[in-house]
Amino acid sequence: MVKTFNCFELLKANRKRRGSFQYTVPSTDTYPYQWLWDSCFHTIILSHFKINDAKKEIFSLLSKQLQNGMIPHMIYWDKTHKTNFPRISWGKDGISTITQPPMLAFAVWQVFQKDKDINFLKKVYSHLYHFYRYLLNERDPHDKHLIGIMNPDESGEDNSPRFDLPLNLPPVQTLEENTKRRFKLVAQNIECKFDAPFCMRNFFWVKDVPFNAIMVTNLNLLAKIAKQTGNSEDAVYFTKQAEDISTAMRELMLEDGIFYSTYGNDYKKIKVKTWAIFAPLFAKIMSPQEAKKLVADHLLNKDEFWTKFPVPTTSLKEPSFDPSGFWRGPAWIGTNWFIYKGLLNYGFRDEAEEIKKSSLALIQKSGFREYFNPLTGEGLGAQNFTWGALVTDMA
Ligand code: GLC
Repeated sequence: MVKTFNCFELLKANRKRRGSFQYTVPSTDTYPYQWLWDSCFHTIILSHFKINDAKKEIFSLLSKQLQNGMIPHMIYWDKTHKTNFPRISWGKDGISTITQPPMLAFAVWQVFQKDKDINFLKKVYSHLYHFYRYLLNERDPHDKHLIGIMNPDESGEDNSPRFDLPLNLPPVQTLEENTKRRFKLVAQNIECKFDAPFCMRNFFWVKDVPFNAIMVTNLNLLAKIAKQTGNSEDAVYFTKQAEDISTAMRELMLEDGIFYSTYGNDYKKIKVKTWAIFAPLFAKIMSPQEAKKLVADHLLNKDEFWTKFPVPTTSLKEPSFDPSGFWRGPAWIGTNWFIYKGLLNYGFRDEAEEIKKSSLALIQKSGFREYFNPLTGEGLGAQNFTWGALVTDMA
């Protein structure tokens, strides 16, 4: 068994301090900075061990929020890091100019569930309000109620085959080719001064399934936070926004029981099967019948996602599937966590338990690695990578 003790130790070992701020890096060697959705995962994990550390993870993120409400996906903090990881220039000093999946309200709500500290909610509420308002206002220029991303890295799944079509890349490609193409996009994002509607119209505009599913869940939790802090009008507003996105997802993404990401001006579906087809379970936007069919036909299908060590991030049937290809096939504990939560939303206890077992088996076999070969369980990418500790939140 992976002891929960090890999980806390791992997070402590990856902890950094900067002035009065404190944050956790995903991996000290490979990823020595702070990342937005990683820190939300860290908060969720830390809420089980030390509530003050969980809160500090949030405060360090919020301290770098931009005027327009966006929270950058990377904060460099320490300029002296000696590391191989490139200090990519995103056009701003010390931070990036794009964001990442909005797990912030979920993380904050989880902390609040532990200690019911209303002052904490009050301290963070206006930051959350502006972040989600930014996404609602700036990322949906056609008022269709789907939130857009302007760079694949905003999905957190940098080289996922979901983005091949919009990037004009073939299904079989090298990581170098993909990185080169994404770097060109970063230059374009800098050029358009991360003005999202402009950048999306001209360079890259994907309405991604997990990002929108995460948005729905988080807006519903934000509504609860608004209510708790006495902002009941905001609560009504955010609940309505969550409903509108759910409806739009069904109208524009759903086909034959599967939700697909869409891109561009005409919201064309990207019909590539990745773990993203299970993300709507996390947002509770499928009917019980739809969920049952999705799980039986695809998740538990040995030719698609039910490998020896599930869940591969890309279906085995896709030409882009590569068992060691970063987001093009390997299992990640973060995506397993989303699927686990989604399955529980629909009462699939046994299947959820299998995902938990698989996650634990991967860590037991290969350690806290960044991602894993879903066929052999071999550990790949960064060492001492924090996401494995999410198993503490699979209970
Ligand atoms: C990789 C992952 C991304 C994560 C980052 C730091 O770029 O694709 O999701 O946030 O590493 O762990």
